[in-house]
Amino acid sequence: MKILAVDTSCDDTCVAVVENLEIRSNIISSQIDLHKTWGGVVPNLAKRAHEDRIEKIFELALKKAKTKVEEIDLIAVTKGPGLAPCLQVGLDFAKKISEKYGKEVVTVNHVEGHVLSILLTRGILKNKEIRWPLLVLTVSGGHTKLIWVEKIGEYETLGETLDDAAGESLDKAAKMLGLGYPGGVVIEKLAKTGDKNFWKLPIAMVGRDGCNFSFSGLKTSFFYQLKKQDPKFIVNNLNNLAASFQEAVMLNLKYQMTKAIELRKPAGLAAVGGVMSNMSMRKMIRQLGKKFSLPVYFPISKSLNTDNAAMIAVAGYYKYLNGKNVAKMEDLDRDPKMKL
Ligand code: KG4
Ligand code: ZN
Repeated sequence: MKILAVDTSCDDTCVAVVENLEIRSNIISSQIDLHKTWGGVVPNLAKRAHEDRIEKIFELALKKAKTKVEEIDLIAVTKGPGLAPCLQVGLDFAKKISEKYGKEVVTVNHVEGHVLSILLTRGILKNKEIRWPLLVLTVSGGHTKLIWVEKIGEYETLGETLDDAAGESLDKAAKMLGLGYPGGVVIEKLAKTGDKNFWKLPIAMVGRDGCNFSFSGLKTSFFYQLKKQDPKFIVNNLNNLAASFQEAVMLNLKYQMTKAIELRKPAGLAAVGGVMSNMSMRKMIRQLGKKFSLPVYFPISKSLNTDNAAMIAVAGYYKYLNGKNVAKMEDLDRDPKMKL
């Protein structure tokens, strides 16, 4: 089954062609340069950029997949969660193609897409057999969640952030340090030569019930500690400060993930989303797998952690197989706060 998938939930214009679980093309048009000056995503700028780019990205995705739109069996498109004006661009585009070529559409939850990104295969690189139930950490600029996956399509959110997302906190810390956007990437680079124990920063929610996260206290603590410093000190210690902040985010994630493993005893672990492109974060998850003797699953390539449409195709594929779930044209409406 050949699926054309579209994701415009945030600042990347993404179109992919996926055949069953195999990636035929996965085109991502990043808007980083557009939002860099603002230190974060500006929704209306992002919307306009999606509108300008989507047709071209769609044509590129078909070309790269060596396929024609007539050969597509199904369209999958992100309905939410995400930025409302951005989501609408993808949904309107899916509707247009659906009506023009008579193709069915399934709408997809972006977070489910991230979760199922571990199932994608490419060429001869087949994924290992996955052991369910899985505990999946999804960490990006928009969400931080611990999700219990009993099996594909059956999800339970065990914990989520009560304020900022982990990626968002990295982006904000980078901004405080006068660094570029997206912050996670810059912080990882600097942290490589820094001392992670330079500053001790707080781990939130310790001793509380449940597996929720909180990153705003960490951000505030970092802000006030920075405020007390001489600008020269900050410039001279950028690597140490980046390493300390990254370590704090990681310890927060590790703390709740450990708790969830002990509570629920999953058969496997997975970690997905933009923040998981970070090598130290991946190492931490692998160590957890080793400690609890659990297999660890990541998407087959690091680039599948950040937003893409191939993962939306996988979620759409299973939604369709699990009872079709074809959307009516009047239901092709965004749901910016969509729950799993
Ligand atoms: O999944 P994603 O592309 O978009 C959202 O759905 O949000 O994630 C983007 C987030 C940003 O906050 C960015 O700073 C973070 O992922 N990120 C990283 C790295 N690459 C991207 N964080 C830490 N280390 C990285 N290498
Ligand atoms: Zn995402």
